[in-house]
Amino acid sequence: MIAIGSDHGGFALKQAVIEYLDSKKIAYHDIGCHSTDSCDYAYSAKAACELVVNGECDKALLFCGTGIGISMAANKIHGIRAACCSDYFSAKYTRMHNDANVLCLGGRVVGPGLAIELVDIFLNTEFEGGRHQRRVDQLSALENGTL
Ligand code: RB5
Repeated sequence: MIAIGSDHGGFALKQAVIEYLDSKKIAYHDIGCHSTDSCDYAYSAKAACELVVNGECDKALLFCGTGIGISMAANKIHGIRAACCSDYFSAKYTRMHNDANVLCLGGRVVGPGLAIELVDIFLNTEFEGGRHQRRVDQLSALENGTL
């Protein structure tokens, strides 16, 4: 199950990605927003990321105008490793090396075609582990104040 959420700036791209998830029969939980009415990305980040942290969802896809604000909000949440990506290499390696559990995309930055490619590679690339596990553990230690 994939959590999905946006603010108004990411709404249209979220809907395009939802169409793709539907076509691939990938289950998702859309926490909103549900229109282009102005809203604040921190609330959407919180609602979607909580589904990841509590185990209801494996990963989240988040959208705002740039992808940046919602990624900043997501990365404030304990257990979240969110990456804002607009290229294929970053979307692939943030899974392989950072074990990112949230992909953030900018609705005013990437078009729907590229967004779908990025979502696809993000959802289908495994974490490499090994030396990268040590570094991901250090991210958790930073979060816990034990690094
Ligand atoms: C909203 O206008 C916009 O600031 C927001 O979607 C996002 O781009 C912030 O990072």
